[in-house]
Amino acid sequence: MSALLDRRLVVVTGKGGVGKTTVAAALGLVAARRGRRTVVCEVAQQERLAGLFGVHDVGNREAELAPGLFSVSIQPERAMHEWLRHQLKSGALAGLLGHSRLFGYLTAAAPGVTELVTMGKVWDLAQAKRRTGGSAFDTVIMDAPATGHALALLRAPRTYANIARVGPIARQAGSIDAFLRDRSATGVVCVALPEEMPVNETVDLERRLGEDLGLEIDQVVANAVLPERFDAGEVKRLREAGTGAAVAAALIGEQRTRGQQEQLARLRAEIRAPVTTLPYLFEPEPLRRELELLSDRLEEAQ
Ligand SMILES: Nc1ncnc2c1ncn2[C@@H]1O[C@H](COP(=O)(O)OP(=O)(O)OP(=O)(O)O)[C@@H](O)[C@H]1O
Ligand SMILES: [Mg+2]
Repeated sequence: MSALLDRRLVVVTGKGGVGKTTVAAALGLVAARRGRRTVVCEVAQQERLAGLFGVHDVGNREAELAPGLFSVSIQPERAMHEWLRHQLKSGALAGLLGHSRLFGYLTAAAPGVTELVTMGKVWDLAQAKRRTGGSAFDTVIMDAPATGHALALLRAPRTYANIARVGPIARQAGSIDAFLRDRSATGVVCVALPEEMPVNETVDLERRLGEDLGLEIDQVVANAVLPERFDAGEVKRLREAGTGAAVAAALIGEQRTRGQQEQLARLRAEIRAPVTTLPYLFEPEPLRRELELLSDRLEEAQ
């Protein structure tokens, strides 16, 4: 994990609802605590991240969530405007082409262009000298969408570099693609729950990243792992204790914990990347204190 946070960009993905935003925030805290100026960027207008830190109405600004930790929400339409302005070097032309109806036209007519401009914005945030101005970050954590969409985002620069071949678009898409493939610059974290389907999806993601894009997962985070409360002797005694709601609940919990341990073992066996675990938090919403706890655990895992 230590080497991971030396990269300029860390992409956090995984199945829907497994804890990507939570892990991205916790990783952001770890990086910021190490003195790296860090930004966590959300895509596709989730705007959940700042809420975890009690900061609201972030909009497009780079909001400071904690000392040295910022968040930004990337909006494709706005990213497209910025990109056109930079490509065309003319505000008037960019205004014409960046008209909102044209955004709709381009996204429909040129598949993957939304993904390209989104990755362009993420890439720009990770550059020591940002094209769009603003002060530089040492670390960018991308709270990426779920697996399928994340793969589309990671693939878009290469697709455009190949289609355009020459000229400024090809050059820039090529630079973004090279940055994503450079393992000293970009890391990939996959979050999973220790359950059958998320484990399958993680195994599948590792294969597709490798086969389609030549990328590797650097770290798998198995999230929300239940504590092993009872040893074998205690389970036996509980079983013998017979009925009662508390006994039944304890046995059901024990069975779930055992199921998780089996899936964790399968994850470790089937995945090449190292696997670290985060505990289940018995709070409905991981608040700041819980995020700190998760950050401590991620730091210990290094
Ligand atoms: N370790 C944990 N223990 C308990 N609850 C957790 C844990 N991690 C995350 N959660 C909860 O699970 C839910 C989903 O988490 P989160 O929003 O981080 O997932 P996500 O993968 O970003 O979801 P989405 O795919 O919708 O973006 C949230 O309610 C969050 O508070
Ligand atoms: Mg999320």
